[in-house]
Amino acid sequence: MAKLFAGIGTSHVPPIGGAVDHDATQTDYWKPLFDGYEPVKAWMEKEKPDVAIIVYNDHASAFSLKLIPTFAIGVADQFAPADEGFGPRKVPVVQGHSKLAWHIAESLIFDEFDMTIANELPVDHGLTVPLSITCGKPEEWPCKVIPLCVNVIQYPSPTGNRCFNLGKAIRKAVESFDEDIKVAIFGTGGMSHQLQGERAGLVNPAFDKAFLDDLTNDVDRLINISHVEYLREAGSEGAELVMWMIMRGALDDNAKEIYRHYHVPASNTGAGIIVLENEDK
Ligand code: DHB
Ligand code: FE
Repeated sequence: MAKLFAGIGTSHVPPIGGAVDHDATQTDYWKPLFDGYEPVKAWMEKEKPDVAIIVYNDHASAFSLKLIPTFAIGVADQFAPADEGFGPRKVPVVQGHSKLAWHIAESLIFDEFDMTIANELPVDHGLTVPLSITCGKPEEWPCKVIPLCVNVIQYPSPTGNRCFNLGKAIRKAVESFDEDIKVAIFGTGGMSHQLQGERAGLVNPAFDKAFLDDLTNDVDRLINISHVEYLREAGSEGAELVMWMIMRGALDDNAKEIYRHYHVPASNTGAGIIVLENEDK
């Protein structure tokens, strides 16, 4: 049977992808951040997940205000990098796992999570930057990817509790898939940042550090962070952190922290990364 063995929480700041694309990771500005990613790249090479479920938000690339799915799952064989205004990133086309994705869609819908099913889904920085962070600049991405898209752009977005329970349902779906494969799940976005309005530029390292701590110390607190609290403490785009709760819900209650790194600023954002593993991985 398939095993969901680990999770990664990571920011998905677009200029991080730009730094990889333009070979700027060793500049004074970027080096301290990218040095912090090296152990995660080594972990990926060692653990070699067959599939990564990448939970991210589309930033008006595939969807727009015309169509706002709360949760969407990509079931295609391939996902092309989206054009976000400067042409698509020159990164490998993302290879899907259609069979597992359909299995997850079926299991989630029968578990009463009404997923939108995406047969075509151009993937933006929310998904491709976490791949660059964890895999560097390879010819092909080293694992298959199932995109799982969450609306955190247009109010009302799902609660942390709903996201956490979706994570639990994803775990159940993966572990009822009849192939011996290793699956990791990524929760992306955040950490604190606000790109708009009077408080543009807000970062809150104390909030971010407590969030990283409580992924292992006090998940209940994180599940119950309200939208207003995210807005107030982590900024309007800090509310992307709700997607980390899907990743967390898919892991064991006593999942272990293997690694973390936190750096301010990366562009406008408190950039965090954490690796969590189940005990019996
Ligand atoms: C930035 C961060 C994001 O998460 C994003 O989606 C867009 C921009 C930034 O810090 O510039
Ligand atoms: Fe974002």
